[in-house]
Amino acid sequence: MDENAIIIRPLTEMKEFRACHTVQAKTWGLKDMEEVIPDHQLFTAHRNGGLVVGAFHGGEMIGFSYGFVGLNHQNKPIFCSHILAVLPQYRGMGLGYKMKLAQREGVLTKGIDIINWTFDPLEAANAKLNFTKLGGISTTYYINHYGEMLDELNRGLPSDRLLVEWHINTNRVKDIIGGKDIKMPGEAFKVLELIPGTNGPEPLIREFKAEKAVLLDIPVGFQKLKKDNKDLALKWRLALRNALCHYFDRGYYINCLNNITDKKATYILVKGGQLS
Ligand SMILES: CC(C)(COP(=O)(O)OP(=O)(O)OC[C@H]1O[C@@H](n2cnc3c(N)ncnc32)[C@H](O)[C@@H]1OP(=O)(O)O)[C@@H](O)C(=O)NCCC(=O)NCCS
Repeated sequence: MDENAIIIRPLTEMKEFRACHTVQAKTWGLKDMEEVIPDHQLFTAHRNGGLVVGAFHGGEMIGFSYGFVGLNHQNKPIFCSHILAVLPQYRGMGLGYKMKLAQREGVLTKGIDIINWTFDPLEAANAKLNFTKLGGISTTYYINHYGEMLDELNRGLPSDRLLVEWHINTNRVKDIIGGKDIKMPGEAFKVLELIPGTNGPEPLIREFKAEKAVLLDIPVGFQKLKKDNKDLALKWRLALRNALCHYFDRGYYINCLNNITDKKATYILVKGGQLS
């Protein structure tokens, strides 16, 4: 496909917000429209400092991002990004990345320099986008954030989430989106290791050592793992939850996701340090 034929731009029209319903339904496998964020809400956010960015191919909407202005716990204005969706057949082409860059441009013009959002820490593709390609960081883990969720991607497991903070005006982020590699810690200790097992990839937790940097493996293809072996998926949910909560409580942050193969990827956590 000619990628130049794809247009990414902010949405402004009611009929465009209506088209977001279909993208949400197809992305999250929603059987009816009860769970979609309605067009009037997207429109009202857009009219009041929010930003909805769409991706179009041949006039058809194939993805969008949606966020609104909020306050963080220190009452500082932030931009809260709530949805990023690309239709399955258009994934892996850089559209998610490009929509985040368009969102960043729009948010900078509002004079806001933090965008945050949550995602499932076991979704490796999202993690790569959020940390490695965009330069987000995370210091916060929410256990079963939304309670039980009913859509196809989230059903059946506790809805744990990482809070991503994207400090969009820092040199670190400018360098990373400009193509520079993220600075890696010299030595790091592997705390959570993926071990191939007869029924799929098993999580092995080693000692929670207080090293300067630690590594946590996750499986790649978590949706398939969930379908094939729900007990094992839950084991991963709990193992990663324990390790991340332990280290966040002790001042570590997620710096990036590294060593990404078709089977596993590795979170790198670093203690303290200067983020800008
Ligand atoms: C998350 C999502 C928006 C990403 O969109 P996308 O257009 O596929 O993302 P990009 O193409 O920009 O990919 C970003 C990086 O992740 C990588 N990636 C994409 N799919 C991957 C996969 N299945 N496994 C591993 N990495 C993957 C890409 O290779 C790319 O890195 P690269 O450019 O170095 O190759 C899309 O997968 C999606 O809609 N998922 C379902 C909804 C969702 O989870 N939304 C986010 C929470 S609201």
